[in-house]
Amino acid sequence: MDDRISYSSYLKVDELVDLQRPLSRPEHHDETLFIIIHQVYELWFKQLLHELRAVVEALDRDELLRVAKYFRRIHTIQRLLEQQVDVLETMTPQEFNEFRDNLNPASGFQSLQFREVEFLCGVRRMDTLKYITMTDGQRAKLERLANEPSLYDHVKALLERRGFAVDSSEALIESFRRIYVNPDANYDLYLLLEDLIEFDERFILWRGRHVRMVERMIGHKIGTGGSSGAEYLQRTLNHKFFPELWEVRTHLGTGNYAQS
Ligand code: HEM
Repeated sequence: MDDRISYSSYLKVDELVDLQRPLSRPEHHDETLFIIIHQVYELWFKQLLHELRAVVEALDRDELLRVAKYFRRIHTIQRLLEQQVDVLETMTPQEFNEFRDNLNPASGFQSLQFREVEFLCGVRRMDTLKYITMTDGQRAKLERLANEPSLYDHVKALLERRGFAVDSSEALIESFRRIYVNPDANYDLYLLLEDLIEFDERFILWRGRHVRMVERMIGHKIGTGGSSGAEYLQRTLNHKFFPELWEVRTHLGTGNYAQS
């Protein structure tokens, strides 16, 4: 037998293409797409977590060029996540209704990796965990993450090392303002802040894209995960990982340059 590594043994292709198991009987044509798209999202969430952890480590080592490199990839993946909604929208609402009952009560609401991304970045809604069936190990992992410094905390620690005040929301906004009014003085920090806001913006864009798709598919029906559905999702658009970074924009204006 040829035991050299091959495309399919390296990538575990046989296992991978065996992981789609539609529940509808007779099997609904669109259920395969529905399963694959969610699986693809979970793979990208895995990659996002991998990159975000690398960002945190690089921040702690003050390696801002490396952080920029990771963010370039992260933003590209985020664009892809937003665009992938298009594929699912080739399914009509009625086609979805034809197999939706089989999923009940499963929902993206229960995506552990999605919560991990939120927790790592600092949106820590512990109440969302009650909807997720998980092992003790998984729960312990999320609880540990909820008590660890967030991505934002790591950014603040770096700013502090660079002499910027971060001890209150007002101080942070003022530090951001100083960086924004004179980017050349701290160009690496300016780039970091722009990468962070782009990450936040793209995350919210995904949320927005998802909720519009949900409305398009199920209108104002309640979710299979037990929430009010589109109404609940619409409220999540208010979650920001780096609120002061948005707030500082209000405080920028002509004349600030002279004060920096
Ligand atoms: C026909 C397509 C889809 C519909 C109708 C839909 C519907 C919903 C609804 C109603 C919720 C609110 C929770 C609930 O009560 O269930 C939700 C949450 C969620 N869905 Fe989807 N979804 C769809 C596709 C997707 C896809 C492809 C993903 C990718 C992983 C996804 C990820 C999520 C996540 C992460 C949440 C939790 C959001 C949060 O709590 O902030 N959904 N979805």
